[in-house]
Amino acid sequence: MCGIIGYVGSRPGVPIVVGGLRRLEYRGYDSSGLAVLTGGCIQVARAVGKLANLEPHLDGLEDGPDGGLHVVMGHTRWATHGGVTERNAHPHVGRSGRIAVVHNGIVENFLTLRADLATDGVAFASDTDTEVIVHLIERYVDDGMDLERATHATLARLHGSQAIVVMRADEPDRLVCARIGNAGGVCIGLGQGEAFVASDVPGILEYTREIIFLESAEVAVVTAAGVRARRLDGAEAHHRVHRFAWDPVAAEKGEYRHFMLKEIHEQARAITDTIRGRVDLETGDVSLEDLPLEPGSAPDRITLIGCGTSAYSALVGKFLIEGIARIPVEVDYGSEYRYRQPLVAPNSAVLGITQSGETADTLAAMDEARKRGSRVWSIVNAIGSQAQRVSDGHIAMRAGPEIGVCSTKAFTTSIVDQYLLACALAIARPDIQGSRDAARSLARDLARLPNLVGRALDANPIYEELARRFHHREHFLYLGRGINYPVALEGALKLKEVSYIHAEGYPAGEMKHGPIALIDEEMPVVCICVRDGVYEKMVSQVEQVKARNGIVIAIATEGDTALAAKVDHVIWVPEAPAMLNPVLTAIPLQLLAYHLAVRRGCDVDQPRNLAKSVTVE
Ligand code: F6R
Repeated sequence: MCGIIGYVGSRPGVPIVVGGLRRLEYRGYDSSGLAVLTGGCIQVARAVGKLANLEPHLDGLEDGPDGGLHVVMGHTRWATHGGVTERNAHPHVGRSGRIAVVHNGIVENFLTLRADLATDGVAFASDTDTEVIVHLIERYVDDGMDLERATHATLARLHGSQAIVVMRADEPDRLVCARIGNAGGVCIGLGQGEAFVASDVPGILEYTREIIFLESAEVAVVTAAGVRARRLDGAEAHHRVHRFAWDPVAAEKGEYRHFMLKEIHEQARAITDTIRGRVDLETGDVSLEDLPLEPGSAPDRITLIGCGTSAYSALVGKFLIEGIARIPVEVDYGSEYRYRQPLVAPNSAVLGITQSGETADTLAAMDEARKRGSRVWSIVNAIGSQAQRVSDGHIAMRAGPEIGVCSTKAFTTSIVDQYLLACALAIARPDIQGSRDAARSLARDLARLPNLVGRALDANPIYEELARRFHHREHFLYLGRGINYPVALEGALKLKEVSYIHAEGYPAGEMKHGPIALIDEEMPVVCICVRDGVYEKMVSQVEQVKARNGIVIAIATEGDTALAAKVDHVIWVPEAPAMLNPVLTAIPLQLLAYHLAVRRGCDVDQPRNLAKSVTVE
């Protein structure tokens, strides 16, 4: 959701904070703002729209004295309470103008707090929930508390999950930051005589690789000399320093026009990294460094949990784990799991799949599962994220930073992780000899995958032509069967997100139970019809669409001229082992969505209303 950056140190802080916000803009881009503490005063600049709109307002800010201390914080907003206006943009400042706050999260009891404050004569300058935080802190400071204690006292009164950073003109050497619940991370980067605060690691990687993560219910005082953190119960908090190897250049667009396109094209490399060192190509043995599976340690049941693209990846994972390891799998949305009194059988595991590792719904579901006695595992891309930290074991996607708001390489790498897990689980089951041998052979198939992905990326020059023909359409259908049915859902999600074209994904066999009524000569229907166990069933679905004059765009196995003769357009993917097909069939759907969106003039990296890490419920 919102992105936060803070800086305390001797370098000019405004460019550092603006640069960090630019890297975090994927978290929210409705409006942005900055607060600079200098000469005993707080100056604020805010603007509606993309970060670029803020830049002209920064000229008037004094960024601390040369050689002196610079204390700056900034925010990029994804609106929850209050419209997208300058008055609702962060930072919010108290009545005295001497305390400012930036916030990510939702103050669930803000109406009550606001009414109390209004009774005491506080006039509100915005419609946000955030503003109550700064007025409460100011009130505690007026009562004689320092900023740290006032922040503690305020947090104790807030309901919901929050991440905040606060500055005070009368304590000009520090930022105070805090985190409660799963409203998104607060990471603190350590430098030589300087420190950085960010909601996400890429925001500060350019400056430091040494990062600590605040846990829930912790408040930290950040100065140029270092960091001191306490829990809300007053106990001192200690943190492991994580050392990051991520290259900040990986978070740049390079020669690509958009991050989404770059990230689609990174998939062969990302999948190579995902597999590297995990499969012994001689024996087929699989080793997952952070989720070791001893013989006999496989759970009896697994629940896969995710949101959006990660939930669709989990649906593919169900086919993989049930098919390869013969362990029953349920799939649930993070937002649903915790509200339906889930049953957790003995010896079961819940596996949260999350690119960001910060999605509030997924984290809450993992929490719920643990409370009910389940083992908790995760598949995460963001190293050091909350999902990783709360898990008993995790598998890294190794996709590298995913900056485009629309998830692409995280989908395919998380499928590969689940494939690896399925093989490792099968090998860890002493009771299924035949399946163990099959799993070793399937694991060896992974060696071919990066090359196949490279071919799928290179094979098809027709996307621009399809975009030219279809960019005015307002509806698309996506059909798949078996393991490719979740890919149809994902293809439809990609198109909706980036092009704002309405799209529905369906298991193809369900068409006849209703959606077939939608088909006419205006309806493009994307059919995933590769040669696998349900190929013939899919071909008959294609026939049914054609019989109703629908326009079929088929994702087909290279060389399938018989299918090509039946359909209107073909996008080829190379022939692959059946269980690896989703990795290949997802790629044309990502590229199709991308090219349609570009043709429609959409902002593909920052689609309207979306944010990369959804850290609120
Ligand atoms: C879709 C997309 C979202 C995310 C979802 C979960 O392109 O990006 O649907 O997949 O918000 O995010 P993570 O995987 O970070 O938990």
